[in-house]
Amino acid sequence: MCGIVGYLGDKDVVPLLVRGLERLEYRGYDSSGVAVVDGGLSIVKSVGKIKSLKDRLDGRRFPGRLGIAHTRWATHGEPNDVNAHPHTDCKGKIALAHNGVIENHAALKKLLLAEGHRFESETDTEVLAHLIERSLPGRTLGEAVSAALQLVEGTYGIAVVSADHPGTLVGARHGSPLVIGVGDGETFLASDGAPLREHTQRVVYLDEGEMVVIDEAGYRTFTIEGEAVDKQVDELNWDLEQIEKAGFPHFMLKEIHEQPDTVRNAMRGRLLREEGTAKLGGLNLSDDELRDIRRIVITACGTSYYAGLIGEYLLEEYARIPVEVEYASEFRYRNPILDEGTLVIAISQSGETADTLAALREARRRGATVMGIVNVVGSTVAREAGRGVYIHAGPEIGVASTKAFTSQVTVLALLTMHLGRLRVLSQAAGRALATELEALPGKIEKILAGAPAIKEIAVQMQHHDNFLYLGRGPNFPVALEGALKLKEIAYVHAEGYPAAEMKHGPIALIDENMPVVFIATRDAAYEKVMTNMQEVRARRGKILAIATEGDADIHALADYVIPVPATHDAFVPLLSVVPLQLLAYYMAVQRNCDVDQPRNLAKSVTVE
Ligand code: BG6
Repeated sequence: MCGIVGYLGDKDVVPLLVRGLERLEYRGYDSSGVAVVDGGLSIVKSVGKIKSLKDRLDGRRFPGRLGIAHTRWATHGEPNDVNAHPHTDCKGKIALAHNGVIENHAALKKLLLAEGHRFESETDTEVLAHLIERSLPGRTLGEAVSAALQLVEGTYGIAVVSADHPGTLVGARHGSPLVIGVGDGETFLASDGAPLREHTQRVVYLDEGEMVVIDEAGYRTFTIEGEAVDKQVDELNWDLEQIEKAGFPHFMLKEIHEQPDTVRNAMRGRLLREEGTAKLGGLNLSDDELRDIRRIVITACGTSYYAGLIGEYLLEEYARIPVEVEYASEFRYRNPILDEGTLVIAISQSGETADTLAALREARRRGATVMGIVNVVGSTVAREAGRGVYIHAGPEIGVASTKAFTSQVTVLALLTMHLGRLRVLSQAAGRALATELEALPGKIEKILAGAPAIKEIAVQMQHHDNFLYLGRGPNFPVALEGALKLKEIAYVHAEGYPAAEMKHGPIALIDENMPVVFIATRDAAYEKVMTNMQEVRARRGKILAIATEGDADIHALADYVIPVPATHDAFVPLLSVVPLQLLAYYMAVQRNCDVDQPRNLAKSVTVE
């Protein structure tokens, strides 16, 4: 996924575009570039982070009022100056920035080469600039973009300017997000709201198959075929501070420390303690319709998928509904059996992950009842699902997801209570869950207060290049998430496994050089986990245990112990994951990794 910014107005265009790119850098940081229409077309591009683009710009000023910019997550063509966006046509008059994948780029390139077009880059994107060049004669820039896109297969969010059309900025989306920022006498275009918030709160979300023509008069929206469409103006409901580091060295650490508040926000106004249930206004399903649900399929990617796995334990245990959890990228191409009695839940922090979006569309196409559990308000999954629950975690900038995970699990717990009380969960049992949920933020604060001790453990374990994470029951997905965090940001090979499954293979890896992280809280599986710890101990494996505070026995088996407060078995994952987030964070810092923008990753992947 990449980040795009466009602007038409009186502000100094290049600093504004570069500032916008910095706000979008979590979307990709392989290379970046700007293009300004200033009588001609001025383009400056650079491989690497936006800092190297700023160095190359070296404070130069460009007189133009119109420009586009791009930060890249490479799909086709390695990260270098030539493959950086914006890309141009043969005459160097058209500039285009693209987020997505042009699937028929090879065939289009062949056609264009046969017509004499010359290509500079290895990207799929460059064909678009040449297609627009080919369509321009006798058309406006908007019409030429529309005509060119009729030939294109694949996904795109694009911004286009042309030296011969000063005062016109064109955008179009099919598969990748694009938002218009409505200012006073100025108009913006961006991949999401982050670059817009410091200029305006008024935004228009382009839907699938739509485009916009921005000029001095403002903006007009159309289908890509050219039909005019009316769009509502929405409002960005978060503050600029929320996308600042607030004194923390990294967004990830800030977001880990935000979790007491974000878990509270996820349940605010939804938890009905006395009734022992939860109300979720966005479901738009009557109690009878909810009772008619015979099966739930949760689909997601990455960390959101692991949250889904915890949801499976909760929903089956407390609502007695059969649940399957599916990797969205597999689910969308499998031939799943779905009907309206199946509730398909798409979980996505960004609401833009291509595989999750496609899985949602496929589920709807097959007649399932669909809903979303999403963080980004106005995102495509949220708008297309048409029902669901916002997790209210606020903007998550760190590429490795943390606060969104605990808020997703909190919302799954609320959904479990709501569905459970309609079926099998007694008021008393519901009340017990509600009481414990309300106590969780305080318990997370207690764990965060222990961060220095976790840092110390990370200092001692920083040299290990392989880790095993083990847990049972709902702590198995926590083991998976802990391992993922270490992979994502510290580049350490780590595997999560059900603790008992260790004996059927991974135990072969264990010796004094293989640290094993056990999630060994005092819950229903405790005794079994202790046995697994003995088995690792017997092979001289180094053990780090996440344990319930006050557990004296565990010290006899573990080299390192990180205590977490006791809680209801249902909610142990919401506590046991926090030390694993911090461990990965401090390991990454010790290993001098780029915590907020780890190599090769992006905040959400809008391409297949
Ligand atoms: C990856 C992110 O690209 O996408 C992960 O790096 C994230 O942190 C995953 O969990 C899924 O993203 P989303 O937005 O659909 O939850």
